[in-house]
Amino acid sequence: MITPLIVRALKNEVVERTPVWFMRQAGRHLPEYRALRQRHSFMELCYTPSLAAEVTLQPVRRYGVDGAILFSDILLVLDAMGAGVRFEPGPIIDRPVTCAADIDKLKPVDPHADLGAVQAAIKLIKAELPPSAAMLGFAGAPFTLLTYLLDHHGPRGLLKSRAFLLDEPALAARLLDKLATANVAQLAAQIEAGAQAVQLFDTWGGSLTPALWRRFAAPYARKVFEGLRALGHAATPMIYFTRGTAGLLGHLKEAGADAYGVDWTCDLAKARATLGAETPVQGNLDPAVLLSATADLNAEVAAVLKAAGPRGHVFNLGHGVDQDVDPARFQATVEAVRRLSEAQHA
Ligand code: CP3
Repeated sequence: MITPLIVRALKNEVVERTPVWFMRQAGRHLPEYRALRQRHSFMELCYTPSLAAEVTLQPVRRYGVDGAILFSDILLVLDAMGAGVRFEPGPIIDRPVTCAADIDKLKPVDPHADLGAVQAAIKLIKAELPPSAAMLGFAGAPFTLLTYLLDHHGPRGLLKSRAFLLDEPALAARLLDKLATANVAQLAAQIEAGAQAVQLFDTWGGSLTPALWRRFAAPYARKVFEGLRALGHAATPMIYFTRGTAGLLGHLKEAGADAYGVDWTCDLAKARATLGAETPVQGNLDPAVLLSATADLNAEVAAVLKAAGPRGHVFNLGHGVDQDVDPARFQATVEAVRRLSEAQHA
């Protein structure tokens, strides 16, 4: 059986070239996605296995990236817990958490009953995915899910989340614990269905002070990873991604992942030096380079490869692909990573 290049890089093995995939590689920048999206709502795409599989595979077919990230959303689990999620087009939570009783009302997640479509999609994707490409599962990390459940994404949203952590630490802990338990169930089911690596998206973790991150983000991410290992999934590489990596570097390993996503504001060489050569990293090309019409792709890609070094690196953006990115720029970036990293590994 072939071990996909991404999995090998995430295990810090010597590889022949640096593998590449991009966060948000599926979705609105692709004309073939927009065509399907005209006929189906976003939720329909997520909850219909054949459609989710098709959208997942679109960027793999077009660009030959080394990983297929499941087409889904971090907020589906909140729907499964009974909070009610809609996209119009931004996310709306029908029943946000406002008090302790609301936390108690959240249902434990049974991934087979509630998210069966996700596992079914993974099985369809695996049947078509070239064995050299990795099937990547994901979930939203407890702290990032908390910010959505509390409906803190309007103006001053994350400021309110920080105030909540300060005012209601016990309630926050209860909610984060419940979300971490849901994450374990959700990711274990994805791995059992065929995911070969998983990423925990803590998109908003970096908006916390380092002290609050260490108290309310890292321990719950760690609980998710340790929970998965306790269920026998220690061999599946687990990635923690947050924005604002630079300010957290010295503490980042408290999240307990096997590898860390690094955003574009962080010096990747410094990230490697701080995390240590035994800890693989993923990132960190500025998403603006893809959006830009004139940036020198070869120079930008070469700088990332050089800062990372040839071992324990998965090439990615520092955050997601923007909807206005030209597919030709995406393609040229993937080709530059291939060409330049092969030379680097020769
Ligand atoms: O290609 C992929 O990366 C896989 C699919 C994926 C989506 N969302 C599809 C999506 C993944 C991994 C996510 C994760 C996600 N969702 C995150 C964490 C990653 C990140 O970007 O930091 C967050 C914070 C969300 C929550 C979310 N989903 C928001 C705020 C929105 C609306 C804003 C937006 O970007 O459109 C979504 C909707 C969403 N999720 C779309 C897609 C393709 C757009 C849906 C559409 O209208 O077609």
